Amino acid sequence: MTYYSKVIGTGGYLPEKILTNEELSETVDTSDSWIYERTGIKSRRIAAADETSSSMAEIAARQAIEMAGIDPETIDLIIVATGTPDRVYPSTGCLLQKRLGVKHAVAFDIQAACSGSIFGLSIADQYIKSGTAKTVLVVGSEVCSRIVDWTDRTTCILFGDGAGAVLLTAAEEKGILSTHIHSDGEYEELLYCPTSTEQKAGYISMRGNEVFKVAVNTLGRIVDETLEANDLGQEHIDWLVPHQANSRIIAATAKKLKLSMDQVIMTLENQGNTSSASVLLAFNEGVRDGRIQRGQVVLLEAFGAGFTWGSALIKY
Ligand code: COA
Repeated sequence: MTYYSKVIGTGGYLPEKILTNEELSETVDTSDSWIYERTGIKSRRIAAADETSSSMAEIAARQAIEMAGIDPETIDLIIVATGTPDRVYPSTGCLLQKRLGVKHAVAFDIQAACSGSIFGLSIADQYIKSGTAKTVLVVGSEVCSRIVDWTDRTTCILFGDGAGAVLLTAAEEKGILSTHIHSDGEYEELLYCPTSTEQKAGYISMRGNEVFKVAVNTLGRIVDETLEANDLGQEHIDWLVPHQANSRIIAATAKKLKLSMDQVIMTLENQGNTSSASVLLAFNEGVRDGRIQRGQVVLLEAFGAGFTWGSALIKY
């Protein structure tokens, strides 16, 4: 029997506090027009002092569980993608497990920066297809605001906080059609964040212009790879759900797929780049507002530090 990973629930959470471009331009040398024209971002959400990746993950996860209408005890694997874990250990996955009271699941974190939730979907799919797990919760959750240097105008304008979740279960009908993940550590220096174990702990460091060029080329290639693997043409894709880093990068990928921007789920304008949370937040938004319909083919893709990049093609 071949099993597919079927999406049975999605969820998302954004902190209450909104930080606009105008507010940012009062503290760093920038402007709303510069940020919006170069990135497509107008505002981002900032976590409250008592919010963490696990607390936001819990809210997103509970929404996904409620949509699926399952007993949380049936979840047997929890994967959390985060670059901003509550603690070095235990994993945010374990902290989420505790919050959800899901005793029998195994839980762990993965670190693939902004590609984290695509890596999570890929791992979940392998577990389900092999019969090792039946119901898997994948969450991307980030408090990027705590690893951003708020005096560095080249990075602080880009990032935001939030969490996205998806619940998958083994099904005979088609769900995830394929996933494709890659990494290349050679690009370490273009985008990194030192940890507290390094001599000089610090904030996100990025050579944005260089990252931009590699991202556009790489995402073009991952689109080709995904379509070829499924023997599909561009016309078979109903929705593009991209990682939300920059509207110009997203537009280049949509153009490559010959999709109009109406077929792209965009959350960037009011969320900024929420790293590993962004794809699942956008997917959740498209599902909940009724744009993404059952039976449609959805291409999720992401690119991030490492570099890491990947895609998941889903028949929703
Ligand atoms: N406000 C005003 N000016 C700014 C600025 C800001 N917030 N940030 C940078 N600038 C200035 C630079 O200092 C530079 O000035 P100079 O020409 O006098 O040296 C000029 O704007 C152009 O900088 P550049 O970095 O070339 O701009 P850009 O068009 O590449 O846009 C990014 C910068 C960061 C928006 C863009 O490179 C980007 O989005 N890169 C990809 C980021 C990404 O995807 N990262 C995450 C991957 S997950």
